[in-house]
Amino acid sequence: MCGIIGCVQRGGDCWPRVYDGLKRLEYRGYDSVGVAVLDQNAIGIRKKKGGADALADAYLKGGAGIGHTRWATHGAPSDENAHPHAAGKFALVHNGIVENFAALKEELVAAGEVFLSETDSEVIVKLISRAYTGDFLRAVRDGCARLEGSYAIAVLCEDFPDTVVCAKCKSPLVAGTGADGVYVCSDIPALSGVCGSICPASDGELICLVGQRVLFYDFNLNAVDKTFTPSDGGSAVRERGAFTSYMEEEIADIPRALSDTYAALKGMDFTACARKLAAAERIFAVACGTAFHSTLSFRFVAEKCLGVPVICERASEFRYKTRLIQKDDVLVAVSQSGETADTAEAVKRAKAAGAYVVSVTNVRHSTIAALSDTNVPMRANAEIAVAATKSYNCQLMCLFTLAAEACCKKTGVYPSFYYDLPALSFAAREAFSCFPEVDALASRLKEKSAMYFLGRDADFVTAVEGALKVKEIAYVFSEGYPAGELKHGTLALVEKGFPVIAIVTQKSLAKKTENAVAEVIARGGYVALFSPFESVLKESAAQFCCKIPAVREELAGAVSVIPLQYFALRMCQLRGHDPDKPRNLAKSVTVE
Ligand code: F6R
Repeated sequence: MCGIIGCVQRGGDCWPRVYDGLKRLEYRGYDSVGVAVLDQNAIGIRKKKGGADALADAYLKGGAGIGHTRWATHGAPSDENAHPHAAGKFALVHNGIVENFAALKEELVAAGEVFLSETDSEVIVKLISRAYTGDFLRAVRDGCARLEGSYAIAVLCEDFPDTVVCAKCKSPLVAGTGADGVYVCSDIPALSGVCGSICPASDGELICLVGQRVLFYDFNLNAVDKTFTPSDGGSAVRERGAFTSYMEEEIADIPRALSDTYAALKGMDFTACARKLAAAERIFAVACGTAFHSTLSFRFVAEKCLGVPVICERASEFRYKTRLIQKDDVLVAVSQSGETADTAEAVKRAKAAGAYVVSVTNVRHSTIAALSDTNVPMRANAEIAVAATKSYNCQLMCLFTLAAEACCKKTGVYPSFYYDLPALSFAAREAFSCFPEVDALASRLKEKSAMYFLGRDADFVTAVEGALKVKEIAYVFSEGYPAGELKHGTLALVEKGFPVIAIVTQKSLAKKTENAVAEVIARGGYVALFSPFESVLKESAAQFCCKIPAVREELAGAVSVIPLQYFALRMCQLRGHDPDKPRNLAKSVTVE
């Protein structure tokens, strides 16, 4: 979704910092970009369709500035729809969705306002401008009071040099202080390395950057005392070095990410959440997209070792089932960003029902982490490519550990797979040796317009995750399917040359998946089989066989997915697309 930044720079030249922030935020949205800077009592604005590079040659003088990278919701990507939007003495950037914008716009047009963009955001700056009687903070509050939906905004006013006023409701906003200035931002990684300390805002709060001070207010404009914490340097945005893309760099980083996550988990106190999980008669697990797939893996492991049902639900659907969750239930919420609006909403609803919430996030000071009773941190470090890779592997590490800790609390002993967790990092590195073969497979399949991924039991999860990666970055229709379901409908699409990718990491299920392989081949399909078992590969009728590292079966998904992540990357690149910025998608989905 959109990224916003605001700053008051010591020394009076904010452009380099705002522009650098936009480059760091670019992965959140990249269809247009804009900056407003206040110099003395005049606001200058530069905005353009395109990524941050579109402003590479621009510059505005002044000490207070706001910036925006856009991911279009209302109105196509264009110079006009790019933020900042201006009205009267004000300029504004916005992340979120104003749900009542049509009614507000109608009212404002009737009052004589002229709109220059199709965005919902422009109504906010008009409302603020109309509410202004000389008190900047009050005008922002009064403008926001008319809004329904979600927003994080940063606003400049020509009457207030060295000041940025911000407000937050349901969209992330964090303030930070650094040696060279004071900042606000939608996303902590954009501030790391810049800010020594940070403080996230809560819903309904306003932030005022004034001179070199950061002041928080509640919606009644009473000052609020907030605690700043040292910023997490570990999440700093990296350079991608010699890698062709961030996605490639992030896949290469999986062994490090797994071993750092394992080390962090070893140092964590699981007592409270393990006790809750061990006592629960059922567990809910919610997330979106790739993170949802990791909840499915959690279900396989947790149901086996805890003996209670784990109900996995897409966070966007969970709200229709909240009547089911009760006081003694535990909700496990998984989110790389910790800011996904649907997942945050599911957490709030579970808390309202009195349930205990355990979250697994990659961003420690995120909204979802703050809402939870216990936060289990991954150590994937900043994930910049839109498609999740290393965060998925780390989510599995966290969720397997969580299940093992709860099992130990319940039974007095750790399940045996617990002792194999440190080996995942080594197995992940070993999986890289499959890449030349996977490369050849991608070259062979690069022109295909559709494919299936098949697996049984836990391998089904790897199949759906592989299919999602191929869909989102290679733009090839792909579907993950339980291998046993093939003949109940899906097989109808298989014809000569139709590609099917099968995964077998459980020997006991190999024969059954091989039946599906044979059914595909009998109809002229092309099957690529991934398995750690020589015998399974040797006996298979599949036309392409790839040996993957052997990992005990409860944990296999954290490694067997790696060749599929790489396959998606290569399919994407061979088809001429940018893996880091797939069309229509954003890294952090902060609107519902
Ligand atoms: C897919 C992908 C998305 C995210 C989903 C949830 O590659 O990245 O499906 O997994 O939007 O995001 P988080 O984990 O930040 O809640």
